[in-house]
Amino acid sequence: MVPPTAVANPGQSSQQTGQQVGPANPDGPATKEPAKDTILTPRFYTTDFDAMAAMDLRPNEVELEAICEEFRKDYNRHHFVRNGEFDGAAEKLDPETRKVFVEFLEQSCTSEFSGFLLYKELSRRIKTKNPLLAECFAHMARDEARHAGFLNKAMGDFDLQLDLGFLTANKAYTFFKPKFIFYATYLSEKIGYWRYIAIYRHLEQHPESKIFPIFNFFENWCQDENRHGDFFDALMRAQPDTVRGFRARLWCRFFLLAVFATMYVRDVARKEFYGALGLDARTYDKVVIEKTNETSARVFPVVLDVQNPLFWERLERLVQNNAQLSAADASGAPAPIKALRKLPYWAANGLEMAKLFLMKPIRSEQFQPAVR
Ligand SMILES: [Fe+2]
Ligand SMILES: [Fe+2]
Repeated sequence: MVPPTAVANPGQSSQQTGQQVGPANPDGPATKEPAKDTILTPRFYTTDFDAMAAMDLRPNEVELEAICEEFRKDYNRHHFVRNGEFDGAAEKLDPETRKVFVEFLEQSCTSEFSGFLLYKELSRRIKTKNPLLAECFAHMARDEARHAGFLNKAMGDFDLQLDLGFLTANKAYTFFKPKFIFYATYLSEKIGYWRYIAIYRHLEQHPESKIFPIFNFFENWCQDENRHGDFFDALMRAQPDTVRGFRARLWCRFFLLAVFATMYVRDVARKEFYGALGLDARTYDKVVIEKTNETSARVFPVVLDVQNPLFWERLERLVQNNAQLSAADASGAPAPIKALRKLPYWAANGLEMAKLFLMKPIRSEQFQPAVR
């Protein structure tokens, strides 16, 4: 799972999904044009493959080999098999829930697929020069393909299908140096783990809110994401300069903030989906952010002070600014007028993000989470 990473100006909610277009084959499902690109929609990444290939893993080779051995076991080989529970499940959703649920499926499928593409390409490009790393990426690509495929099949229950070939060819790819790929993907895997497990545990307690059988699969699913996160943890330890020193501390703060703020703004804008599951989007995000922050302290040199009430107040200001930006977008005004209306909110977001970034972080060695 690879979510968005940068949120200096979360301009638009990704609720503005693409138009459904007619089926090419009248008997098949309609293909769904991917959601309009915004800063909040999942990114697609590319990186410096030569630098990845040349990476010396010796400082942590034993752990990486052990993780690769876990990947080889392929625990979820038989997990993602659809059963009779899916029959007729889509028809049971009311139109409003159906709409927000399809958006959730689309966003999740795009995230999983973006992980698949990155890992697959990495594995292919470094195969001969760095076989251990290449094998790990191949196993992770296998998992992400399974996740994306399973989500896309669920979209099929709603007579929709994401055109993954179109997505591959037409998405803009963001270039990140390897160490930035490590921060971003580590965080996205770990936050993915906490997101899936939090929903799963909530629905275990409230089975009446299980609106679709796909949630039954989340427990084993999130273990894949957890293992992927552990792989990047081990990889950063093999390249200790990525998590050591002043610059690394600044970058870790930046990525933590970008990932947390983006998720918070996006999820609050989509609170109807969480509401349909009987969850409050803000409470859910708070738990996920606290847990991910806590987990990140195992490998990042610093984490954010998410216990500080100011942190949440500032995230709320981003939410408010984002609502104003969406309102300006939704207005029928000509583009230059829209831009003028949006300018103060962009500026306010930039200022709020700067304030959040400058908040005193917590050194990981001083961090004492209640549960590890
Ligand atoms: Fe995944
Ligand atoms: Fe993953």
